[in-house]
Amino acid sequence: MTAMQNVSIGAHYAIHLPAPDDFAFWRERARGLIQCDVPPDRVAWIEPGATGDLFGSEGPSRSGDKRLPAPSADASPVRASQRFITIARSAALHSDPARFGLLYRVLWRLQRQPRLMEDKADPDVRRLEDLAKSVRRDAHKMHAFVRFREVAEEDGTPHFVAWFEPDHHIVRTEASFFMRRFANMRWSILTPRGSVHWDGETMREGPPARREDAPGDDPVEDLWRSYYASIFNPARLKVGAMLSEMPKKYWKNLPEAELIPQLIAGAQAREATMVAAGARAERARPASLAEIAQSITACRDCPIADCGTRAVMGEGAPSVPLMIVGEQPGDQEDLTARPFVGPAGQLLDTYLERAGIDRSSAYVTNAVKHFKFTWKGKHRLHQSPTAKEIDTCRWWLEAERQIVQPRIVLALGASAARGLLGRTLSITRERGKAIMLDDRTELWVTAHPSYLLRLDGEAREQQAVLFAADLAALRERLAELAG
Ligand code: URA
Repeated sequence: MTAMQNVSIGAHYAIHLPAPDDFAFWRERARGLIQCDVPPDRVAWIEPGATGDLFGSEGPSRSGDKRLPAPSADASPVRASQRFITIARSAALHSDPARFGLLYRVLWRLQRQPRLMEDKADPDVRRLEDLAKSVRRDAHKMHAFVRFREVAEEDGTPHFVAWFEPDHHIVRTEASFFMRRFANMRWSILTPRGSVHWDGETMREGPPARREDAPGDDPVEDLWRSYYASIFNPARLKVGAMLSEMPKKYWKNLPEAELIPQLIAGAQAREATMVAAGARAERARPASLAEIAQSITACRDCPIADCGTRAVMGEGAPSVPLMIVGEQPGDQEDLTARPFVGPAGQLLDTYLERAGIDRSSAYVTNAVKHFKFTWKGKHRLHQSPTAKEIDTCRWWLEAERQIVQPRIVLALGASAARGLLGRTLSITRERGKAIMLDDRTELWVTAHPSYLLRLDGEAREQQAVLFAADLAALRERLAELAG
């Protein structure tokens, strides 16, 4: 940021802002100037890098530089309604070079007309509201259209990088939205107005970037494309409204945008089909795992669907003898879109290996497809799904089971068992024996590895022995069925 510099020129003042989005700086200077009774036409607000003849031909020369006047100790307080502050805070981020002058003029007038902000016909008030609205809209677009691409750091840690072209100076302010949303990820948002970088702990600011500095296509884009195609609702299609919500200028950064023309073209036909068949029939049982993966991203049958970053699909080949079912994705699973990759997954891998079960020859999934959590500071803490939420998601789990056709399903914990059976059972009572799901599929239940992770000392050792024994029995049964 450039150093602050305030120069008075005769009876005029040129205020150099340290950054184009520094509302706090403007506010402090504006307050002092109002208290010294400096009228708006005597102040020029200058952004970093701006040049020009600030006061036109009537302006003073720079020869009379002097410091800003200091308000006297008994100067009256500056009046500004909360409404003005709220609108001004947004309007200050607009790219219009005249915005700080406008803000000062309105603040000046507010001292004499305290109800000025209520005058909707006043040109200054209208302009201020327009600026604020346009900034809010830009922020909304940034929330909606930033698309991270994954790049690997040298140490193999994933880093997510996005390119975005805001119309206004919103990047630093909106960085906090992404910090809350992706608290545990390492990410960077690059823009022509500056960049922000989050490493999971601290936010850093960087210089403006170019489009080429951000990575291009990667496999994450396929996920977005299929997500967009599946949430696209032909019955709601209004091309004009859609273009205003999703202006063409953003399309080049959006992997899903290349689908738009074909989706629009097919919309009427799909709408007719939907009306005729009814919305539920749109959900005919999927014929492949890929189809389920696509459909679950659009599922909004329970409130968990709005949690997490994405639906996490099961992983593994169809037609394997073993299907392993957990409860729901955790933080790491949500970020990587893969089941059982976090601490519970690592523990599971260790015990599977010890039991001689090859995870890569099993199909691994969850009873619930989205990560349900609550924020604690910047951490997302797991919350158990309710019985109703598990039951709502059973439809997908059953669809996966019908495609995979395993001989044995291993349920890790009570939520997974409920997802398979539709009722709650006791793991302690039912572990170590088969429950028939249909005439060829056995359900085996055991503890969830996260349960082991929550225990300490002797209790953990006892549970670890039981867990290992359950997996050993399972391996034997798999061998029997194979033989
Ligand atoms: N716990 C689960 O139940 N499933 C996962 O995928 C990860 C943790």
